[in-house]
Order: sequence, then structure tokens, then C-alpha cells
Amino acid sequence: MTKRIGLFYGSTTCYTEIAAEKICAAINKMLGPQTVQLHNLAFDSVLLMTKYNHLILGIPTWDYGELQEDWETQWDTLGTINLRNKHIALFGLGDQIGYPEWFQDALGYLWHRVVRLGASTKGEWPNIGYDFIQSKALNEEKNFFVGLALDEENQFDIVDDQICQWSSQVVKEFGLSP
Ligand SMILES: Cc1cc2nc3c(=O)[nH]c(=O)nc-3n(C[C@H](O)[C@H](O)[C@H](O)COP(=O)(O)O)c2cc1C
Repeated sequence: MTKRIGLFYGSTTCYTEIAAEKICAAINKMLGPQTVQLHNLAFDSVLLMTKYNHLILGIPTWDYGELQEDWETQWDTLGTINLRNKHIALFGLGDQIGYPEWFQDALGYLWHRVVRLGASTKGEWPNIGYDFIQSKALNEEKNFFVGLALDEENQFDIVDDQICQWSSQVVKEFGLSP
């Protein structure tokens, strides 16, 4: 195992893919080229997660609080992986105005899944500045999302800053700061 970070994502209309590429670029800039390895779950298996100590997982919410299709396809396989001793940060894509009662729900489902599999999770993100009714991606105190919550539909103008800030936060919380 090395300092490399595996970034696994599913993306139906490419927004999560673009965010994944931006996170990859931001972290590689800090830690060196090829630190982050991208894995699109349309082509790669979740079983490849076992190769890494540090993981970043990206998931959009679809169809009124459902998992994105590539995550859904590999959900049972994910349940067979031992994630003990793995440090995992998550990010989600959602639409708080179009789907205010299901905002980022899939991020919450994925967080619960990896915690049950033993992972230590990082990268919580304050829920200040959002406008939604309900989300399964909030922590117990309801003041933080369990990962970075991005909304390309309604907050495209701040997404790049959020990604930049969160990427630095995750590198620190992973203990990988240069
Ligand atoms: C049919 C449809 C259903 C959606 N359902 C939700 C939802 O329940 N909750 C949410 O937060 N966002 C929802 N969204 C917004 C998507 O998560 C958002 O567009 C996201 O950026 C898509 O990411 P992707 O392009 O990587 O697949 C939905 C979008 C569409 C088109």
C-alpha cells in the first residue's frame, strides 16, 4: 500500500465525473501527479477498493432518493468488502431545489454502508448555505453533511471553491499533508 488515493464514482449525466476529475486535479497538485487514481464504476469493480488505504467515493442521488445506477449494481459486492483501517471521504451530487425532500440521500446511504463495513470516515461538510427540506446525508446533530454536498444545478458558481476547500481538508484529515 502506498500514499495513493482511490477515487471511485458513479455518474449518469457526468456531473459527478467532472467533480471527481476536479478533486483529482486539486489533490494531485498538492501531493504529486497520480496520487489520486480515478475509477468509474461503470467500468471498474468496487473490489479494487481493497488496493488502497485512502478512498474518496462520489455518488449522485437519483429518482427521489435512490442510488445512482452503477453504485446500485455493485451495492451487494460492496457489502462483502472489509473496510476496516480504511480512511474514506465521501462526496455527493444533488439538486436541493428540484428534490428538496431527498437532497443527497444517496450520500447518506453510502456513508452508512461504509461505516457498517468498518471504515473511518472523514470530510464532513457544514450544511450552512443550503436550502432543502430533508436529507439522509446529515450527521446525527444535523449540522453537517457526512461528506461534501455539491449541487451543480443551483450552486454551480461555488462548486469549484467548495471542491478546492474540501480537497485540502481531506488531505489533512487523511494525514497526508506535505
Ligand atoms: C430524474 C432525476 C432525479 C433526481 N433525483 C434527485 C434526488 O432525489 N435527490 C437529489 O438530491 N438530486 C436528485 N437529482 C439531481 C441529480 O443528483 C443531479 O443532477 C446530479 O448532478 C447528477 O449527477 P450525475 O450527472 O453524476 O449523474 C435528480 C435528477 C434527475 C434528472
